[in-house]
Amino acid sequence: MDVFKLKKLCVISIAVILLSFGCSTVSESEEIKVDEIVKSMTLVQKAQLVIGTGMDFHLPDSIKANLPPEFRGDHEKEDTPYNRMVKKIRTYLPGTAGVSVEYPELNITSQTLADGPAGLRISPTRKDDSNTYYSTAFPIATVLASTWDVELVESVGKAMGEEVLEYGADVLLAPALNLQRDPLCGRNFEYYSEDPLVTGKIAAAMVNGIQSNGVGTSIKHFAVNNQETNRMSADVIVSERALRELYLKGFEITVKESNPWTVMSSYNKVNGLYASESHDLLTKILRNDWGFEGYVMTDWGGGSDVITQMNAGNDMIQPGRPNMITTIIDAVKSGKLKEAVLDKNVERILNVMIKTPRYKGYKISNKPDLKAHAQVTRQVAADGMILLENKNNALPFDESIKKVAAFGNASYEFISGGTGSGDVNEAYTVSLTEGLKNGGFVSDPTLEEVYIDYIKEARSKPVKSKNFLAQLMGAKLPITEMPLDASIAKQMAEITDVALITIGRNAGEGGDREAIEGDFYLSETEKNLIRIVTEEFHKTGKKAIVVLNIAGVVETASWSAIPDAVLCAWLPGQEGGNSVVDLLSGKVNPSGKLTASVPLKYEDVSSANNFPGYEIKTEDSEDKTTDQSGFSFMRRLPWEVVYEEDIYVGYRYYNTFDVPVAYEFGYGKSYTTFEYSNLKLSSKKFIDRIAVSIDVKNTGKVGGREVVQVYASAPEGKMEKPKEELVTFGKTALLEPGESETLTFTVDAMLLSSFDEKNSNWIAEAGDYTIKVGASSKDIKKIDTFIISNDIIAEKVTKALVPQRDFTRLVK
Ligand code: BGC
Repeated sequence: MDVFKLKKLCVISIAVILLSFGCSTVSESEEIKVDEIVKSMTLVQKAQLVIGTGMDFHLPDSIKANLPPEFRGDHEKEDTPYNRMVKKIRTYLPGTAGVSVEYPELNITSQTLADGPAGLRISPTRKDDSNTYYSTAFPIATVLASTWDVELVESVGKAMGEEVLEYGADVLLAPALNLQRDPLCGRNFEYYSEDPLVTGKIAAAMVNGIQSNGVGTSIKHFAVNNQETNRMSADVIVSERALRELYLKGFEITVKESNPWTVMSSYNKVNGLYASESHDLLTKILRNDWGFEGYVMTDWGGGSDVITQMNAGNDMIQPGRPNMITTIIDAVKSGKLKEAVLDKNVERILNVMIKTPRYKGYKISNKPDLKAHAQVTRQVAADGMILLENKNNALPFDESIKKVAAFGNASYEFISGGTGSGDVNEAYTVSLTEGLKNGGFVSDPTLEEVYIDYIKEARSKPVKSKNFLAQLMGAKLPITEMPLDASIAKQMAEITDVALITIGRNAGEGGDREAIEGDFYLSETEKNLIRIVTEEFHKTGKKAIVVLNIAGVVETASWSAIPDAVLCAWLPGQEGGNSVVDLLSGKVNPSGKLTASVPLKYEDVSSANNFPGYEIKTEDSEDKTTDQSGFSFMRRLPWEVVYEEDIYVGYRYYNTFDVPVAYEFGYGKSYTTFEYSNLKLSSKKFIDRIAVSIDVKNTGKVGGREVVQVYASAPEGKMEKPKEELVTFGKTALLEPGESETLTFTVDAMLLSSFDEKNSNWIAEAGDYTIKVGASSKDIKKIDTFIISNDIIAEKVTKALVPQRDFTRLVK
């Protein structure tokens, strides 16, 4: 074929690909089409489109019997055209969280909305079908963020999105990007970081990866959903500044850098109004300030008034209930809801619909490349684990190590992901002991038997949890740690080469962490386990390594000096055991770093005094506990949480107020060492932006990668500032010993700005700035300074979400 023909063919193929997928902006002809569709719809059809079709909770009859009729699905038994349609569209992809209606005669196709965020959550088996439909359980979000590797995260998104596409979903309800405000939040594992920049950059990479498949995402939970306790009614009282700089920032970056198709509003209230009913949040900020073009859906059962939701710009209610459809119709008829508003909601939903695979008639294969994705998850999990301690280079294992004694229940019941809607139905989980065997090690069989017997016995009794939802969904909740008999440790120290002690913690949607004692703090049994095993192994000249298989930060300071090494593996997805062993064996050199600080004690956390808030006593409080406007099993207690710590969350607090921590934000060890040199700023005087470059050299003996963090300290101007804030970051390629790389960064005025509440401006105040380049927020390697001569207004935004009353705010 001649070059010309080849070029022509390429152009045509690219055009076809763009037309069938990926093309995220709506072309003019498509706009006209949507317009026409809206015009052709009846009021009833519009109302049905904006309200989801309800949800089959698959609950046991005993529980269903106690629910009000509309939650039992009784109304679905009637044989109406609507019910027939609902029944049909629910078969498209069993196990998804929600669907929107279809009207083939109007060219309106149904949208299948499936959870996230650790992978595609669908039913692995189907009625009268012998095939299986497993998805990959990728590592939890915290692991992804701990890689600090936006390209790698984008590749995870690509893989996840391929499963969404090939199994036939249209929108993945992910990523989840609330801030890790407090270590006790039960859903922290679904979130990325205590820092909004890391959150936004990683989330944007994820969205770009997923959406590159021509499927959508729903970034959630917008906004300030930083706890599970009374999440459906908690009113978060928070300053405009903390909102803009911290809680909204990650969403802002994601919207601007990745164009998510949809946004999920959160359950909670923000400064007095439900997020899903807040015009300030969903229209003024999300659309007017940030330019979001997609549609907003509620979280499942969120908010209380569908008319206010429509007016606020919350276009779709999920999962929806039939009486809501009637409410919309009546409101339009009575003039309470303008039809033009409803039309806009409908139009936004349809603008996304025309991009979906179902609308485009994509032929699904039901065969995503699960094998390839297993490799992706294995690699990303290893890259996101964090080496916290490594005394005398205890890790990686040297060649003498063959036989391993695996202690701790979680070595055998390795936890791959959290509970609740973020739980994935994967085909398998590689436990730590399986990972050891796959890596060519022997896990001592006698010890295995002891643990397996204990676990069997413990599992024969019901496992209690505070988390009702986890229990309802049949989640495998961790059992109490087996008290270790010292004689077993002694015997193992004689016959094996090394001890691994796995400490397990799960958490999940519907509840915050089980407790402070025994959850955030290790239990006495766990501490004894670490102590006894280490002592016995040290007696025989051998080492003991702790592996933290945890959903959220635990206290480490009281015990971390005991073992020889501590590896934080988080909940690393279905290949978790293999990923851990890749690090233990040295096949992979750890390069993950903490995206949340590890405090010395819980009281040191800046939100400790106000997490998770308190009940507001009103005269009719009692009635509200039985409010049925959302899920009947999620109570709505009048509740308030005041973010008194304001902008001082995580390292912004610890560093500014000199509160020591166990491990600081950005911390993580490697098997090699790096040297930083040659920090250069493009100018000493800031005009629009400044370029920062630094050389990083591997000065150790093995190849490795380094996460490089750039912090800025702003001058004390009119607004007080945290001591330093992360402004950008990067990660080197794999550097062989002696090899170096120059990393370059650009810092613009927005990155240096603080939010001025009075004028709703982002301002980089005039004065001297310090750029600090480091290996963590405390381990600063090089610094330099520049000056901003006059205040720069980086951006002016809308006045919005003003707190309705004064409250105490932490000041320096
Ligand atoms: C969760 C969301 C989830 C939705 C659908 C809600 O309870 O908060 O994260 O996407 O359910 O399953």
